[in-house]
This record gives sequence, C-alpha cells and structure tokens, in this order.
Amino acid sequence: MQGINKVGIFTSGGDAPGMNACIRSAVRTALHDGLSVMGIYHGYQGMIDRNFSEMNSRSVSNIIQLGGTILKTARCRDFQSPEGRKQAYEHIRAAGIDALIAIGGDGTFTGAEVFSREHDIPVVCVPGTIDNDLYGTDFTLGYDTATNTVIEAIDKIRDTAASHDRLFFVEVMGRDSGCIALNAGIAGGAEAILLPEKETAIEALCDQLSLAASSNKSSTIVIVAEGEKNGGAYHVAREVKARFDFYDTKVTILGHLQRGGSPSSFDRVLASRLGFAAVRQLLAGETRIMVGIQGNKITSTPLTEALSNKAVKLEKDMLEMVKVLAI
Ligand code: F6P
Repeated sequence: MQGINKVGIFTSGGDAPGMNACIRSAVRTALHDGLSVMGIYHGYQGMIDRNFSEMNSRSVSNIIQLGGTILKTARCRDFQSPEGRKQAYEHIRAAGIDALIAIGGDGTFTGAEVFSREHDIPVVCVPGTIDNDLYGTDFTLGYDTATNTVIEAIDKIRDTAASHDRLFFVEVMGRDSGCIALNAGIAGGAEAILLPEKETAIEALCDQLSLAASSNKSSTIVIVAEGEKNGGAYHVAREVKARFDFYDTKVTILGHLQRGGSPSSFDRVLASRLGFAAVRQLLAGETRIMVGIQGNKITSTPLTEALSNKAVKLEKDMLEMVKVLAI
C-alpha cells in the first residue's frame, strides 16, 4: 500500500483505563503530522457495521482523565472468518482509511496480524489490558490503575476484617495472569496469594494460614486470582472453612470495578507515549508491530513475536517474600 493519508483508530477486547488518553494522543499526533483520522466504534465489529466517524482535535478534548473508551469496544466473532475480514476491509477502504492503530490485548493483536497480512494494510498495535500479560512491554495500559483500585479495596476490607477478626478471600481479575493479584497482594499486605501461574494446594495454603492464626493476627487476607487452579475464591473459602472451622470467613469478588476509573498518572503518561509512538511508527513504514515500554524506553515488537512468547512478569522469589512478610 502506498503512503498513509487517513488512519483509523479503534479499541478492542476488554476496556482498560488509559485507552482514552491513548486515543487522544494518537489522534492529535496524527493530525499534527498531517493525517486525517477516523474513529472506528466497537472495535472490529465497527468495521463490519461501518461505524466510523471523522475525528478532529476537539473530538478528544477532556478525555485524558476518563476510564473506559470513547470509541467503545467489543469482542467480535464475525471478524474471525475470512469473509468477515474481507467485508471489514472493503468498508474501511471505502471510508478512505489506509492504516490502523489498534489498542487492546492479545485477541486484538491476533485479529490485527491476520487482517494486515491478508489485506496488506499497515497496522500498529498498542497494549491495552489491565492484565499486564503481553510479551514485549513491561506494562500494559490500565494495569497500574487497576492495581491501585485493588489496593484501595484491600485497604478497606482490611479495616472491617481487623475489626471482626475475620479471614477474607478477595478475588481479583486475571484469567491467565497473576500480575494484579501478586502486586496488589504485596502492596495490600496479603497473607497469601493464589495465582494462575502457580498451583497452590489447599493444604499448603492452610499451612500458611495456620502460621497467621498462631501469630495473633487480627485479620487475614488471601488474594485469589480469578484464573487460579483451585476454582476461585468461593471454592477456596469453602475448602479452608472445612478445615479451620474457627475462622469467620468472608468472600469479596472485586469483578469489573477493577476495569473502570480514572487512569493513574502512570497510565496517562504511558498512554500518551504509546499513542504518539504508534503514529510515528506507522509513518516510518512499520507494520504488524506492537509499541511497548521496556526499561522506560519505547520499543517495538513484531506482533508474531508478541503473540508467540509468554510474558514472564512474576519473579519467583516474590511469593516466598509474601510468606516472609506475613509473619
Ligand atoms: O482481559 C481483561 C479482563 O478484565 C480479564 O482480567 C478478565 O478475565 C476478562 O477481561 C473479563 O472479560 P469480560 O469483561 O468480557 O467478562
């Protein structure tokens, strides 16, 4: 494809705080660099439904502080078929779009990779997901905000747990990634943390809880990542209660409140840097890459590499540290 005149921007998959700040940055950078910009609503679904709207600098006023995504988002089944993607391509070309910026997670990247290859359209992806589970970037948009949201919740639960001498199981998001669970757990002083990446037998958890019980703690908090292998917070709580009847146990599922809220300063700055970089990479002739941040430097990683490698963001000794700090 020759030259880029009009870039289409969309968000896809689960929303994440910082997506709006990234949209703002990409739109304004593109306009500054002489491009037109088209917003695509509801991700890939919007390409199929021709849900487009021209964007100018004012379209992104006062959104840097907003959670969610003004472009809406969706998980789109039709885009998984070649016919759906062909239709999407015809629609975006008819709208004059000749390059794409996609903000989302691995599902978004998979779609972008196939689409760009099939139809020879340049695509640059930005990692946006609270899960922080993508290879090629130290942080994804929304992760910092979500972790801070969880910490705030844990602090509040700690107040009531300590007042009643209770044991709480707090379930946090992360189907395949324990990043939120581990880091929010450490920051919230959790007594134990269960992760999808590392199986913890109920007996081993009970050993940890026995130690907590014998050291006169007024409250105990176990963070359970939703994807951990025992079956979630309610199941773990029942199993523990069956062994330790003396505990007054409670379960809190934090759920989607973790996805909303005003982005942290960290996420706003990261979003601004990645949106800017995405446009500049497109104009430099790059395609099928993800822009990311590694060691505070903006980097780019081929989508195939980002998708075929596992993000390893959990240091082995961190769980050991959780045990030590819980005495
Ligand atoms: O990928 C982000 C995420 O919030 C996961 O942590 C969670 O498992 C999933 O999305 C929930 O997806 P949905 O909002 O579609 O139920």
